[in-house]
Amino acid sequence: MRVLGIETSCDETGVALYDTERGLLADALYSQIDIHAEYGGVVPELASRDHVRKTLPLIDQVLAEGGIARGDIEGVAYTAGPGLVGALMVGATLGRAIAAGLGVPSLGVHHMEGHLLAPMLAQHEAGAVPEYPFVALLVSGGHTQLVRVDGLGQYALLGESLDDAAGEAFDKTAKMLGLPYPGGPHVARLAEQGDPARFEFPRPMVKQGGLDFSFSGLKTHTLATVRAHEVDGKVSDQDKADIARAFEAAVVDTLVIKCRRALKQENLTRLVMAGGVSANVRLRAALEEKLGKERCEVFYPAPKLCTDNGAMIAYAGALRMAAGECDGPDAEVRARWPMTELTAPKAAA
Ligand code: KG4
Ligand code: ZN
Repeated sequence: MRVLGIETSCDETGVALYDTERGLLADALYSQIDIHAEYGGVVPELASRDHVRKTLPLIDQVLAEGGIARGDIEGVAYTAGPGLVGALMVGATLGRAIAAGLGVPSLGVHHMEGHLLAPMLAQHEAGAVPEYPFVALLVSGGHTQLVRVDGLGQYALLGESLDDAAGEAFDKTAKMLGLPYPGGPHVARLAEQGDPARFEFPRPMVKQGGLDFSFSGLKTHTLATVRAHEVDGKVSDQDKADIARAFEAAVVDTLVIKCRRALKQENLTRLVMAGGVSANVRLRAALEEKLGKERCEVFYPAPKLCTDNGAMIAYAGALRMAAGECDGPDAEVRARWPMTELTAPKAAA
């Protein structure tokens, strides 16, 4: 089945063509970062308008790159939530209109299910893919969750952030250090120059049991450290790098501790990491090292499939549509949509 995937939940327009037999045929991404950078965060109205401008040209681009005629599309998947409602509506409206015009099914896909399944795309490049069941660490700008995954649509929430998401904490730290949005990659780059022994930041919520996270206290600690090192309102480049390093180490350590605990609790040996923060090199290395010692395997998507993209939506939609799912007449987008509300496709259950 050949599926067109459209992702417009936030500030990236992602479009891809996925073929259940041949794999990813084409994948295009347009990032709105430059538009939102001067505001220090995503401006929802500007995001919607730009998705309107970019989605159709990107669809033409992936069709040309994939050598596929419009009439060869057999299904259209779009992100139906969670995300910015106006932005989601652009992808949903276009996706459903294109599907109706072609007389093929459409399906609204859960954004985090897309992230969660992205590592499976490696199967078409002979890469290792995780078998069910596994524990998933979903770490993005809006979510930090540990989920037990027993199959497509079979998700049990093990723990989540009670306040800021890990990616949000990276973005806020970047702002404190005068770095651009989105901050994760900038903080990570700056941290490379930092002295790992200079500061020891707190590892939130690791002493008490449980699998929930909290990053707002760490954010406050980071801000207090920045303030304490200001001289005439300025922090030196080395101090900034050392703070970035200490912040990153605290997040990485906390995530690793909770992942080990989740695997132990569920008696599982496979961890899948997905979402924007899973692009973080030190997080990947720490998980591989610590979990490797315990004979656990770690899986994550190719770097370009960690952050938002159309491929993960085309893939998740293809799996569900191939199992017979499609939109009903009352399909709608949702700003909030707990992943645990998803169910396995009926045909696959
Ligand atoms: O999954 P994603 O692209 O969008 C959401 O669904 O939120 O994740 C974006 C988040 C941002 O907060 C960004 O700062 C963070 O992922 N991020 C990183 C890295 N690359 C992206 N955080 C830490 N290290 C990175 N290398
Ligand atoms: Zn995302």
